[in-house]
This record gives sequence, C-alpha cells and structure tokens, in this order.
Amino acid sequence: MKKVCIRVERSFGERLRLLLVDLGLLDFDYPITLEDQHLLLPLRSSIDIAVLSELQRQSTSLTLVERKLVPKEQRPTSLTEILRSHIPAHILPKIPHSLDIIGDIAIVELDEELTPFAQEIGQGIILVHRNVAAVYSKAGSVSGPHRVRALNHIAGEVRTQTVHVEYGIRIAVDVADTYFSPRLSTEHHRVAELIQPGEMVLDMFAGVGPFAILAAKRQPVTVYAIDINEQAIRCLNRSLELNKLAGKVIPILGDCRQVIQEQLIGKFDRIIMNLPHESIRFLDAATAAAKPAGAIIHFYTITSEENPLEKQRSKILALLSRFGKGTKIGHTRQVRQTAPHEAQVVLDIQVDGTDTTMIT
Ligand SMILES: C[S@@+](CC[C@H](N)C(=O)[O-])C[C@H]1O[C@@H](n2cnc3c(N)ncnc32)[C@H](O)[C@@H]1O
Repeated sequence: MKKVCIRVERSFGERLRLLLVDLGLLDFDYPITLEDQHLLLPLRSSIDIAVLSELQRQSTSLTLVERKLVPKEQRPTSLTEILRSHIPAHILPKIPHSLDIIGDIAIVELDEELTPFAQEIGQGIILVHRNVAAVYSKAGSVSGPHRVRALNHIAGEVRTQTVHVEYGIRIAVDVADTYFSPRLSTEHHRVAELIQPGEMVLDMFAGVGPFAILAAKRQPVTVYAIDINEQAIRCLNRSLELNKLAGKVIPILGDCRQVIQEQLIGKFDRIIMNLPHESIRFLDAATAAAKPAGAIIHFYTITSEENPLEKQRSKILALLSRFGKGTKIGHTRQVRQTAPHEAQVVLDIQVDGTDTTMIT
C-alpha cells in the first residue's frame, strides 16, 4: 500500500521520529525504512503545512513522499484492550498510558489498586511493545547519592542490563543500579549540537554518560566524565567500547568536587551539571573548572516556584556574583514536568573563569 512518508537525512531521523511521536503523527503500523542514506517515516494522517514548514526549517533535506510500504505484523496495540478480560472494569482507567522504555526494558508506574494485576500488566506491555523483553514497576522514587530507584520485576526476562539507542549512539544501562532517563534525550541532543570542535568538555554528574557519549560522537572534543557511582562508570566504559570512543571520553570515578580540586582546575570550555536537586551546591566547583577565558555551564535544577526560569535566573546571577564571576545567562527552558507542581529546568550560563577559588 502507498503511504505518505517524510523523507529525511539519517542524522535528523531520531529527532524527527521523537517530534512525530509527540505530535501523534507517526504511523507505528508501518516500519521506518532506509532509502539512500535517508529515512522514510510513515505518517498516520496528513501533516499541517505550518508544521511541515517548521520541520523543513530545521532540516532542509526534509520532503513529503509516497512509498509502497508493507505494514508490520499486526500486534495488539492497546494495553487496555488486552487487559479488559483480566482486570475489574472500575480500575481499567488506571492502567498507565505512558512508560519508560530503556533499551529492551520497560519501567512502569502502577497505581496501588493495580498492583495485584502487575504480572498481567507486564505481560500485556510485552505483547504491545515488540522490543520489550523485561518489565519492571517502580517501587519508590529516584533517591540517594546515585539517583536510582527500587524496582519490582513483573514480567519477562529477569535482567536489568540493557543497551539503549539514542540519536544513533549506544548507551549501556543497568536500570537497577544507575540513573538513566530517555525523557532527557532532547536535552542530550541539544547540548551536543552546541559543542564546537576542539572544546574541552566536563560532565560533572555523568551517570552512564549520555551527554558525554553523544558529544564525543558528534564532535572532535575531549570529554571528562565524572560520576560517584561505580556501576555508572562501568556502564560508561562499556558504551565507550560499543561506540568506539575510547580516549575521547575520559571516565573518572569519584566525587566531582574532589576530582576538580585535585586535577581539573581551569581546564574546560563547557561544563554539564545534571544533578538537578543538588547542582547549585557545586556551582563553585564548576566555575573553578572553567577556563580562565570563560566557559558555558549547562545548569539543571528542579524547582516548584512560579515563573521558575526568572526566579532561577536571578538566584544564579546573585550566587555567581558572590564568587566574583562575570556572568550572563543565555538560553533557559523548562525541560520537563517532574511532579504536578515541579519542573526540571536548564539555564545555559556564560561565566568568566578568572577566579578559581572553591568553597570547601
Ligand atoms: C541525575 S543523574 C544524571 C546522569 C546523567 N548526567 C544523565 O543525564 O543521565 C546524576 C548523577 O550524578 C552522580 N553523582 C551524585 N553526586 C555526585 C558527586 N558528588 N560527584 C560525581 N557524581 C555524582 C550520580 O551517581 C548520578 O549518576
């Protein structure tokens, strides 16, 4: 059957796929296919001309085409339909509509009333999502110094290690012992796109290294990636093998404040600080790591304030002026909602790095 598809160069494919999923336009019944170094992404319905023009502004190679495509093998598409005969009708509306898929592992949040049916739900998820081999439910919130959460196995393989693909890079993750969120993929990509060839980049809270790996894959740069979690550094080393990036990313196990103090003062053009609940405590260490000529800091934080971007902007400017830093704040944005009245935000801060004192 002939399908209307968007044809786009491969490098823009993942970004476009995520945008089309967000817009509800990607037709999951048809495969995404490769044609002469371009991807064909099948559309579910016609695309608004304004949306198409905006996409074409982002990638000039992007065109609308018609192609004969063979539909994928039909699978049940609705978890609710699968579970209708297994779960009492009054709790069916509580079935989760979103889940995180990391590699081939799905992580789902279950309402308390659904926990007696966790196994059925897990098996349903495996039926609907062909790439999922294991399902875990959340058994707490992300916590502790390593920012991990407890999980309960509910279906499929009993395995917590996987490889997640994001913008063409392969990221080794252990969902039980390391932090990784596929919801940050746009942010990983945004930062990687800003990095200039030759930059020295520091990822202070690297985790399994999504920022570091993507940056090093995209540009000829050196990235120092620090994390305090041994398992995260183990996964990062594995990813460096998978992506052939040994030597371009330098993983360091340790507390970033101590590591900076001991060996990284005044070295970096760009610094990534994604430890949202605590990054503010480490701003002095980040500025000490900045090159004397200055650096950009991508600063992530969590806030429940009204007008969060404005409030954070004033707070950071006041704090950095106390350290004697000249500071400008460029791009700011809300990255995602983390709770009903709480959001993760990012501020791109330009600092003059002349003073290298740290509060210890
Ligand atoms: C929210 S995760 C972010 C991981 C990664 N940047 C990402 O985007 O997926 C924060 C990471 O900071 C690490 N961490 C916490 N305190 C640290 C410290 N003092 N020094 C270095 N790493 C730390 C944790 O182990 C965790 O992997």
